[in-house]
Amino acid sequence: MSAIKTESLIIRGENNVEMQKFVINGGNPLKGDIWVSGAKNSAVAILPAVLLLDVPCIIENVPDISDVKICLKILKGLGADVRPIGDKGDTYWISCKKVSDYYVPYEEAKKMRASYYFLGALLGRCGNAWAAMPGGCPLGARPIDQHLKAFEILGAKQIISDKASDIVELHAEQLQGDVISMDVVSVGATMNAILAAVKAKGTTIIENAAKEPHIVDLANFLNYMGARIKGAGTDTIKIKGVDKLAGNAGEGSAVDYRYPVVPDQIEAGTFMIAAAVTRGDVFIKGVIPKHLEAITAKLRDAGVNVEELEDEDTVHVFVKENVLFQPVNIKTEPYPGFPTDMQPQMAVLLTLADGQSTITENVWEDRFRYVKELAKMSAKIDITQNGALVHGSANLQGADVEACDLRAGAAMIIAGLAANGQTSITDIRHIERGYADIAGKLRGIGADIAKISPEKD
Ligand code: EPZ
Repeated sequence: MSAIKTESLIIRGENNVEMQKFVINGGNPLKGDIWVSGAKNSAVAILPAVLLLDVPCIIENVPDISDVKICLKILKGLGADVRPIGDKGDTYWISCKKVSDYYVPYEEAKKMRASYYFLGALLGRCGNAWAAMPGGCPLGARPIDQHLKAFEILGAKQIISDKASDIVELHAEQLQGDVISMDVVSVGATMNAILAAVKAKGTTIIENAAKEPHIVDLANFLNYMGARIKGAGTDTIKIKGVDKLAGNAGEGSAVDYRYPVVPDQIEAGTFMIAAAVTRGDVFIKGVIPKHLEAITAKLRDAGVNVEELEDEDTVHVFVKENVLFQPVNIKTEPYPGFPTDMQPQMAVLLTLADGQSTITENVWEDRFRYVKELAKMSAKIDITQNGALVHGSANLQGADVEACDLRAGAAMIIAGLAANGQTSITDIRHIERGYADIAGKLRGIGADIAKISPEKD
């Protein structure tokens, strides 16, 4: 494949998204400052949560990604008034005053996993909710039994219509607080239980709750708006139901409710690994270093230098001259363990290590689709009983690969940046669900990457 310079490639409009791809000429060490956007997995919960409010509010630091666009489209579809503020595409004024519907548009709900948050938010708002079973990355079965269990404990009844088995319809005369003991640690079910419980009668206790930063962010947003949630970020969350959220302020109040979404720990981790594999020197800015501790620890074990500049909300990632990457064993766990959403990206670094590494994927049963794509680039990874064995010392070569899902796609970009020669990545719509302008951000620190829409013919 001829290694044409990417800036000579034509960048077309958004008209044929399906055909778009990233083209990368690898080998440039990344250097400079790169800014992280708001967290996808926080924004897709906070935006539906606005349905619980009795007043308008402004959500800031919203990532400009397709999952957020779908959330905003669903809110508008339900009757909300959604207005962008400023020209950066990261701030929205939202009023749900006119929302009278509780049917989530079917097609939109199928486009992402997080559409399930509209079930909890609509239940909490009006006691009714109707949505298709969610879509999202193909990582295995991805059941929502824990979400439905939480709703049922709070008093919601599920209407099973055999006509459309992939619809979830819920009704509750009055949501009543109770104890919800999760059978598995579930980010989505924990968030949905919070959404349904904040305006329920009485007190709700969520046991075996997930502790991710985006759960704390949702609780902080709701508490800022008048909810009474304690313990978010621990495995036991206590919620005292309230009648109104910010309703005391009244519609005409001068209060201008503004809430910024927390920085994206997974986007930050993705950039950290990109800096490492290109043996660059990068300042990743706008982060909360504490949220990155598990990633930082594993990168340091692998021989990567990571400096936490707390007072500058920055992590500095660089690799010393002649340092060989060391093999590292990874086990994915719920927060604060090593995040499953960083597993494919870390695997790329481990293919370059001086020795064998193991990856144990404890969250998703099918999160190794990227392995066959990396094999096209001369990486050697064997799938094992409960994970993968990564053979190191790869000399990655550019190739034509596809993004099998969101984080697998991010891993392909990282591999392309580290490889010799040119890599083209198709199915980039998966990547653009969770990374805002990733090619533009990486070009800003020296990556030779372009998004192209091949000519129709
Ligand atoms: C969220 O998915 C994230 N998505 C995922 O990120 C992330 O991988 C996952 O949490 C774990 O951190 C969003 O927030 C939109 P879970 P979610 O419920 O909520 C099982 C990305 O790349 N489970 O925490 O779907 C489930 O099968 C995406 O940004 C049940 O058994 O994950 C899994 O094994 C990919 N029953 C485990 O729990 C349920 O009702 C954790 O799933 C729910 C989950």
